[in-house]
Amino acid sequence: MLIKVRKPSEVRSSEITDEKLFWDRRRFLRGAALAAAAASATPLLLGSAAARADASAPTGGKLEPLAKSPYSTSEKLNAYKDITTYNNFYEFGTDKGDPASHAGSLKARPWTIKVSGECEKPGVYDLDDLIKPNALEERIYRLRCVEAWSMVIPWVGFPLKEVVKRFGPTSKAKYIAFETLLDAAQMPGQRPSLFGSVLEWPYREGLRLDEATHPLTILSVGLYGKVLPNQNGAPIRLVVPWKYGFKSIKSIVAMRFIEQPPPTSWNMQAPQEYGFYSNVNPNVDHPRWSQKRERRLGEFLKRPTLMFNGYGDEVAKLYSGMDLTKNY
Ligand code: MTE
Repeated sequence: MLIKVRKPSEVRSSEITDEKLFWDRRRFLRGAALAAAAASATPLLLGSAAARADASAPTGGKLEPLAKSPYSTSEKLNAYKDITTYNNFYEFGTDKGDPASHAGSLKARPWTIKVSGECEKPGVYDLDDLIKPNALEERIYRLRCVEAWSMVIPWVGFPLKEVVKRFGPTSKAKYIAFETLLDAAQMPGQRPSLFGSVLEWPYREGLRLDEATHPLTILSVGLYGKVLPNQNGAPIRLVVPWKYGFKSIKSIVAMRFIEQPPPTSWNMQAPQEYGFYSNVNPNVDHPRWSQKRERRLGEFLKRPTLMFNGYGDEVAKLYSGMDLTKNY
């Protein structure tokens, strides 16, 4: 399926849920023009002094200007409220409303990411030194959860491959393992309970290096033109739009370059239900429910689920020759 390229001229006010968000979008468009001007005048250096979009601003702070991405879908956006109050972030509880209610205890700054393993520049990096502010883009992607609901989210982020390049993976690096913060003081869902724990902490995920460096894979630091709310994975989370939502790990504190596929949280918890790849695939059912259809949040009727969540033209070649019923 072709991804429709969204031109700025196609942004219609009717796609925006309320007036405030409509005006936010108007500011994005003005900001994009500024970004283009700034980009032509200033080399896009890491931590450039000409930065305008300040990703270290507190939650809700404006991130602008934002470049538009040709990878964005032109589908109707889900409302900011849906995206920020219907969440999966088990470190804050297992109900969809728990992260919005409890994630206030997460401290998103200062924040470091430990980079290790098969790479030339291992180390502990301050997040704000890793973000290339002038290069922040808006990427409107579908998010398809394994639970068969979906949303359309205007992320703010940058390609993961930009930071991967900076760390210099060696020829042995075939995978990247990611980890979320482990801190029960900030994340109440990690505290021992009488009923045991849903997952083994920290939350872990992994990608093959070619998946990680695919241009669709981004690290997100915001949504709807604002700094990422804690419940959505502040201060930095992965977004891999052709995979089920659980691959998009939140609040990342570690990245490790390795030779073998890393253990991943949901695969460790229920290997027969959640594989390493977890590509959105309507032809491979979850053992307990069908993946053929999905309910877009805010809509009544279900819609068909698309192979690779609709990003097949871009990513199917990554899996050529693989049996996706076995590599689920
Ligand atoms: N990351 C961490 N650390 N913990 C989690 O529980 N849940 C995953 C993923 N990333 C999760 C996580 C799941 S199951 C989904 S569907 C998406 O986050 C949801 O992202 P959203 O809440 O921003 O929509």
